[in-house]
Amino acid sequence: MEAVSDRIKHLFTVSLGDLNPFRREENYVSVDIGSSTIKVIEARTGTQGLEILNFGSVATPSSAIHSNMVTEPDLVAEALRGLLDAKGIRARKAITAVPGPAVMIKRVSLPNQGQQETEQAVMYEARNFIPEELDNVNLDFQIMSGAEEADEVEVLLAAAKKDIVGSYGDTLRVAGLSPVVIDVDYFALDNMYELNYDPLENQVAALVNIGSRYSSINILKAGRSTFTGDVPVGGRDITEALMRDLGIPGDEAERIKMGAGGSDFDEEQVSMALIPAVDALIEEVHYALSFFWTAATDERIDVLYLSGGGAQTPELANRLAERAEAPVEVTDPFGRILIDENVDVAALRRRGTEFAIAMGLAVRRPVDK
Ligand SMILES: Nc1ncnc2c1ncn2[C@@H]1O[C@H](COP(=O)(O)OP(=O)(O)OP(=O)(O)O)[C@@H](O)[C@H]1O
Ligand SMILES: [Mg+2]
Repeated sequence: MEAVSDRIKHLFTVSLGDLNPFRREENYVSVDIGSSTIKVIEARTGTQGLEILNFGSVATPSSAIHSNMVTEPDLVAEALRGLLDAKGIRARKAITAVPGPAVMIKRVSLPNQGQQETEQAVMYEARNFIPEELDNVNLDFQIMSGAEEADEVEVLLAAAKKDIVGSYGDTLRVAGLSPVVIDVDYFALDNMYELNYDPLENQVAALVNIGSRYSSINILKAGRSTFTGDVPVGGRDITEALMRDLGIPGDEAERIKMGAGGSDFDEEQVSMALIPAVDALIEEVHYALSFFWTAATDERIDVLYLSGGGAQTPELANRLAERAEAPVEVTDPFGRILIDENVDVAALRRRGTEFAIAMGLAVRRPVDK
């Protein structure tokens, strides 16, 4: 397996900070700002690898995120600050991500040439595929494959509007953090997967992250991202279906969805409302997967890994397996990660899938490109 550091994406590196390689590594905090919750993990790299020191989450203030952007940075920063204080997280260097749907991604083959020529070719490609003035976007690229002597290299281009990237960075700054890397959630999942799983040669794995308002798909071939897509459905749609069909408020629907007892509805009533909503979500995911099947007609997906808070939705994993005709595994983002003895491991594992993106972000470090 390649070292993670060799494959880490350098997208949207904001600043290098004052990292001193000769000092014992300081703590970093990774921050995943979702529309339903803000999730943080404090970690550091020690002699035995990455170690989780602390984690936590807090509800995102309602309507603070719109069109993949933090539209209420002060409110989100206040909630984040409160979470960091409550958890005693003192790390100041932060790593965060913009939502995949806000990012334009393209894979191109370019002649294998020097750094400067590659950058020029990337700029040329970018002008062609980005429907925005390049001045208004943050653009980055990564060479994904191609041996030194190969004629061509495969390059991944990613771009997001500056005001979107800026809204995440500003939120962190208002919360007193220093954003050193701003990544893309798709790529964070990729890194989380690589940390914890050994992709088999020729294996096609689909990472499916079910969030609250959108779900993302990242298809990896032998561990390399070959396809990304998203659909605008997630856990919130399941909650809304329960609210509507059972005539109950949101908090009760959330409790029922999470299998907490004490509701007035019997299992059958809950199932009748839940199953059609789960199936509707699965159809959307399947639709997004169908683009991969169209683009790669002779490929099949060998395994799907579910993550995101919505991965725990009852009946989702088994029904998705049936629909996609492939095994579905619920991801364990911490399978191979050291966890400090002060961390409530049981709670972390119980809520594991929600922290998949934050875990993937935790491996990122500012790098000089
Ligand atoms: N145990 C559970 N069972 C079912 N659903 C759950 C469970 N835990 C969390 N969820 C659902 O997961 C969703 C939140 O997932 P996640 O934290 O990944 O989303 P988010 O990052 O806040 O949102 P987004 O990325 O879509 O903006 C919510 O809809 C929540 O109801
Ligand atoms: Mg999310």
